[in-house]
Amino acid sequence: MAPTSFVMPIVDSTAIFKADIFKGKVLFCTGGGSGICRGMTEAVMRHGASAAIIGRKIDRLTQTAKELAEATGSKCIPVQADVRDPKALHAAVKQTIDTFGRIDFVICGAAGNFLAPIASLSENAFRTVIEIDTLGTFNTVKATIEHVRRSKGSYIHVSATLHYKGTPYQAHVSAAKAAVDALSAVIAVEEGPHGVRSNVIAPGPIGGTEGMDRLTPKSDDAQRRFQSTNPSGRMGDIKDVANATVFFFSDAASFITGQVLPVDGGNEHLRTPS
Ligand code: HXC
Repeated sequence: MAPTSFVMPIVDSTAIFKADIFKGKVLFCTGGGSGICRGMTEAVMRHGASAAIIGRKIDRLTQTAKELAEATGSKCIPVQADVRDPKALHAAVKQTIDTFGRIDFVICGAAGNFLAPIASLSENAFRTVIEIDTLGTFNTVKATIEHVRRSKGSYIHVSATLHYKGTPYQAHVSAAKAAVDALSAVIAVEEGPHGVRSNVIAPGPIGGTEGMDRLTPKSDDAQRRFQSTNPSGRMGDIKDVANATVFFFSDAASFITGQVLPVDGGNEHLRTPS
């Protein structure tokens, strides 16, 4: 019998978790000005946390911070810093501590991507993505760790699923995200005794994001193909990643650290019979 067509629902974390679970907590999120990290920040703020969003474009950050504060009723400050610049990150941490007094949660989300075949990828192009994704994660952890230890807080690193196999034109991002996954595991075991957790969220195809647009030009039918072949019957939504974020930061995940959670609707397990 043919399976019934079923599309997994998209829900809000506030329908599942209590509204005030993060009251008094503070989030430091790199890449929070837009896309997936903005959605992750919004969800954490909806549960009562204040947030600092960090990025390179202060105009966009300022607008996002205003919108997030209005939408959630929690506080949000925009802080300009490039994750490749440790000094700027330390200044961003200082500004966050001066404003909110603590840091409980960190999202290492700043990332860069474009499609390029390895044969023509320049050294500088490869290095640039490694510097943003991998070194940027390392720099963010170094800048925040003292405060996260103090609050017995938690890290979430935003990775990807594309490095589980050989994804064409993604040598730079595959290498960078594999390293991020490895870094998180080390943080989990080194920092566990200090009460700090570290986990990875690996988004699959998430609709309406810059990453998805960069990887699948709107002119072709790739996005529609992702939707029709996904085992869950749809593309991912930013809310799917946001919900996983709320779970990982919540005490419901207090014995979960060093893990990688793909949020991909089962996409990575799909193998079409040949
Ligand atoms: C080949 C490229 C390129 C392209 C840039 N380069 N774009 N090479 N194809 N399309 C090369 C440049 O020629 C240069 O090398 C080097 O990369 C650095 O480029 P710059 O523009 O000088 O760097 P910078 O201004 O720092 O910009 C960084 C960037 C850019 C990554 C290149 O795209 C950016 O800022 N992106 C941020 C936003 C973003 O990418 N968001 C999507 C994230 S999604 P040469 O040799 O010429 O000097 C994501 C998810 C992944 O990461 C997983 C999804 C499933």
